[in-house]
Amino acid sequence: MADLEGLKRDAAARALQLVRPGMKLGLGTGSTAKHFVELLGEKVRAGLEVVGVPTSEQTRELALACGVPLTSLDETPALDLTVDGADEIDHDLRLIKGGGAALLREKIVAQASARMIVIADETKLVERLGRFPLPVEVAPFGLAATIMAVRRAIERAGCHGSVTVRPHKAGGALVTDGGHNILDAALGSIPDAARLSDELHEVPGVMGHGLFLGLATGAVLATRAGVRTLGQID
Ligand code: A5P
Repeated sequence: MADLEGLKRDAAARALQLVRPGMKLGLGTGSTAKHFVELLGEKVRAGLEVVGVPTSEQTRELALACGVPLTSLDETPALDLTVDGADEIDHDLRLIKGGGAALLREKIVAQASARMIVIADETKLVERLGRFPLPVEVAPFGLAATIMAVRRAIERAGCHGSVTVRPHKAGGALVTDGGHNILDAALGSIPDAARLSDELHEVPGVMGHGLFLGLATGAVLATRAGVRTLGQID
């Protein structure tokens, strides 16, 4: 486990090299993005001037604790670079995100950024998306009806598997920073990610889903043999 943390930090350190003075940054969520925010904080304390938009309340607290100046998409609607983790990444830079329940804000921030660089350890690279259960963020209103509609959308996209409400550790359903719930769709394999994305967006109760298609511009993957990159990095 300690070794995996080392790989995550290696990926974060490589992504930090892309940060230039004056940049407006999207700050991701999760255990890999945490390393990036901590390392960025060290640079800021040494004099680097940047501003960040956090993708979750968890990242907001961490960034503030690390001394990273924050802004919002309302004040700063166009960002230069977002650095975030992923639950899965394929060779075409398509992602599954949302294991940390921050997918909606993560996607809004990524969309607002000129570039999105994914940082991950090598275990996240897959041949085909879907082994990681796909998170779908939904409105609490009409939850049972939305679950039925999501199941039908999944079938129309040629996928099969269970759809469950993500529980909160303390009991009840998990509630996201935006006040929504999360469904986890355990599909095993997603043969047509674009179709599944479209079908899910047709369901009114779906606020967003964890398929990030055409958003990541590059990836930094830390392996035991060193850091490798996918797509456009510099
Ligand atoms: C948060 O909602 C997620 O999208 C994370 O970015 C993703 O789960 C990766 O997290 P780790 O870096 O902790 O694996």
